Amino acid sequence: MHTLSGGQASASNQRPQLELPEMDEQHRYLYQVFDYLLMPSVKADTRATKRVLDEIERAVLFHFASEQDLMRRYAFPGFAVHQSDHEAAESRIVDFLDDVETGRFDAGALHYFLTTWLAEHSLISDSEYVAWIKQRRAEVVNPSMQWPPSR
Ligand SMILES: [Fe+2]
Ligand SMILES: [Fe+2]
Repeated sequence: MHTLSGGQASASNQRPQLELPEMDEQHRYLYQVFDYLLMPSVKADTRATKRVLDEIERAVLFHFASEQDLMRRYAFPGFAVHQSDHEAAESRIVDFLDDVETGRFDAGALHYFLTTWLAEHSLISDSEYVAWIKQRRAEVVNPSMQWPPSR
C-alpha cells in the first residue's frame, strides 16, 4: 500500500525527457492528466474522477499504441519486451479502475503508480527504442550534411 508521504512528491517530480519531441509531448500530456487525479475538485466528485480516469485510459492506450507503431516501423529489436512492459502497466491500471466499482479506489495510490511507472519506464525502456530510432534516422537525415543548404 502506497502512502501519501514525501516520497510521492520526489518520485512525481522526476519526469525525464527523451529528446524525441513527438513522444515527449505525449509524456507531458500524460503527466498533466495524471496530476488531475489530485485536484481537490476532482477528488471530491465521483463523476469528475470517472471522466479523468476515462481520459487517462484513452491517453495511455494511445501513447502505447503510438510507441509500438513507431518501434515496429523501425524494426526495433526489443519490441516484444517493451510491449509486455506496456501490457503489465495496462493490467495494473485496470486493477485500479476495478476499485472504482467496489468503492476502494485510491486516487493518490493511482497517481503514485502512474507517475513513478512512467518516469522509470521512460528512463529505462523508452530510452532504448529512442536511441535505436535516432540512429536509424541519422543514417538518412544527418545534420552534418546541411541539406537543404542554409539560406
Ligand atoms: Fe512512453
Ligand atoms: Fe514505452
